[in-house]
Amino acid sequence: LESARRPSVIWLSFQECTGCTESLTRSFSPTVENLILDTISLDYHHTLQAAAGDAAEHAREEAMHANAGEYLVVVDGSLPGPKANPGYSTIAGISNYDMLMETVADAAAVIAVGSCAAFGGLPKADPNPSGAVSVQDLIKDKPVINVSGCPPVPMVITGVLAQYLTFGKLPELDQYNRPLAFFGQSIHDRCYRRPFYDKGLFAETFDDEGAKKGWCLYRLGCKGPMTYNACATMKWNGGVSWPVESGAPCLGCSEPDFWDAGGFYDAL
Ligand code: SF4
Ligand code: SF4
Ligand code: F3S
Repeated sequence: LESARRPSVIWLSFQECTGCTESLTRSFSPTVENLILDTISLDYHHTLQAAAGDAAEHAREEAMHANAGEYLVVVDGSLPGPKANPGYSTIAGISNYDMLMETVADAAAVIAVGSCAAFGGLPKADPNPSGAVSVQDLIKDKPVINVSGCPPVPMVITGVLAQYLTFGKLPELDQYNRPLAFFGQSIHDRCYRRPFYDKGLFAETFDDEGAKKGWCLYRLGCKGPMTYNACATMKWNGGVSWPVESGAPCLGCSEPDFWDAGGFYDAL
């Protein structure tokens, strides 16, 4: 019996640090193994595929031709400004811009994974030497779903992929094209330290009595009130912890331009 064909996914990595892929591999429900072996056909992914060189590029082209109109393109990383710096980042001699446009032409939709792909991220931070732009700055004729975070929560990446491929339709999105199911509430809305905030109990330094008692990190620079992400409920490392639970104020990493927005705090 012929087995059912799994939906084809082509994953393009541009100006990125591989942190988003590292995060993907730490998903536990579904696991990346379940995702790749049971749910999707991951036909191109620099870090995870066995093929290299020409064979890898042939795999991308074959997947595009065999699944025209149906395949999903996932992107991590921003792109150098296509007019000013087309040669700043290339793969197989192809500029990131040309590879994105060629690959997306017959795709059903695009998922921008990580704040670099969604908003420009670290490469776009001042002084933005490559003139970095996001995927949605360039793609105007296909749906673009942004899964922001630096990196995104592992299960948010796999959850968005699984949801789209299972139901075949776009999730409900917020103003930044992020799925509301994961980005509909702020970190502050779901934070377990919120009762301390409401009582006015704040840590003033990283090692004072308030910090030891687990009080609110707002006065240490926490950007939880203006940051929308699922960290506080889905957590990291298989649901073990997340930045605020580890004593680190939220940097706002899922919001546009967070690198330049004052999210980084000084060690007091
Ligand atoms: Fe790396 Fe963060 Fe960019 Fe992902 S979003 S590629 S983790 S810098
Ligand atoms: Fe809000 Fe941050 Fe305080 Fe949590 S630690 S209650 S997210 S300000
Ligand atoms: Fe990022 Fe804040 Fe979560 S820094 S990882 S959105 S707690």
